[in-house]
Amino acid sequence: MAGNTNLRIARKDKQDEFYTQLEDIENELRHYRKHFNGKVVLCNCDDPYESNFFKYFAMNFNQLGLKKLIATCYAGSLIADTQMSIFDEEQPEEKKTRVPHKIVITEVTDVNGDGAINLGDVEYLIQNDKNVLTRLKGSGDFRSDECIDLLKEADIVVTNPPFSLFREYMAQIIEYQKSFLIIGNQNNVTYKEIFKLIMQNKIWAGVNAGAQKFEVPLSFERNNTYMDNGKKYAKFGNICWFTNLDHNKRHEELDMYKHYSTAEYQYYDNYNAIDVGKTADIPMDFDGIMGVPITFVYKYNPEQFEIVGITDRGNEYGLKTKEYTKVDSPKYGDLNRRGALLINNELKSTFAKLLIRRKQ
Ligand SMILES: C[S@@+](CC[C@H](N)C(=O)[O-])C[C@H]1O[C@@H](n2cnc3c(N)ncnc32)[C@H](O)[C@@H]1O
Repeated sequence: MAGNTNLRIARKDKQDEFYTQLEDIENELRHYRKHFNGKVVLCNCDDPYESNFFKYFAMNFNQLGLKKLIATCYAGSLIADTQMSIFDEEQPEEKKTRVPHKIVITEVTDVNGDGAINLGDVEYLIQNDKNVLTRLKGSGDFRSDECIDLLKEADIVVTNPPFSLFREYMAQIIEYQKSFLIIGNQNNVTYKEIFKLIMQNKIWAGVNAGAQKFEVPLSFERNNTYMDNGKKYAKFGNICWFTNLDHNKRHEELDMYKHYSTAEYQYYDNYNAIDVGKTADIPMDFDGIMGVPITFVYKYNPEQFEIVGITDRGNEYGLKTKEYTKVDSPKYGDLNRRGALLINNELKSTFAKLLIRRKQ
């Protein structure tokens, strides 16, 4: 019965099975090492047998000085057809039956006596210490009471959560006031709740952004998938890490080389702001509000700029100057949702833009 339930959940959630590459995790995590000393890390969307997040923290447990590493496996994390495993050994029964479980590690020593402290010791611990791997009572849903108890215990949550539950996932982390580093999508910036947190400098973009590939189940049918060495991958062009952990890039000044001119920068027809096509074109001498692409978040230094709104919705930030009706344009709905530019006597809607201002 429980097995059937797990399978049903798995089928429903198949589209959430995107496995982060170890290289991408290492490339991002190396910018935050100082934050982890003495901390409890939780990976709460991570089947320890498959997740490179778990692998990264298990391998670096001592170097980072972690106090504890907790990983929980969701019932839906079934990718049996890929037979993926971060360990060399055949997967144990626990894994084959896909019972939701948690792994808690408080120490990594040379338990297998091979003269080195490495992933082999973690594997040995999992298989030989009955306190390390235990079954969860429920499905391992990050919103369940037992997983929330683990969240309460954690200092920092690091994972790639299910894309389809990004809003809920972030809301929960914020509610429990946890430090976090998670993978999302550039478009998440425009989500009402997420944008507010970005504007308030409660969350910000991580260091790396852009194209990233993920391993997916072999059965996955999507137009962004491809095979490589018998494994299936999906590539996304707009991956963004989100965090509330400080990193150096966030304090780097954006170099500006352009000067403002009315010929080059046009005011929106419905916002008291100029439209800037590319972040690199932000003029160094314009004191007013500027509409810049969403990707500005990757260059955002809160000491240099402030984010004052977004053109993607109503007039929540009081920066809109006009509401169109059908008298203005048959596309007045589109125009009201975004910044509009008057081009050759015709109003044109633009992409969602962040509204920013230079700090004096
Ligand atoms: C995008 S994948 C990433 C997996 C892993 N964190 C990684 O980065 O390789 C999201 C994972 O969350 C799991 N998941 C889906 N819904 C979940 C839920 N409600 N609670 C916990 N995990 C969930 C999926 O099964 C999937 O393995």
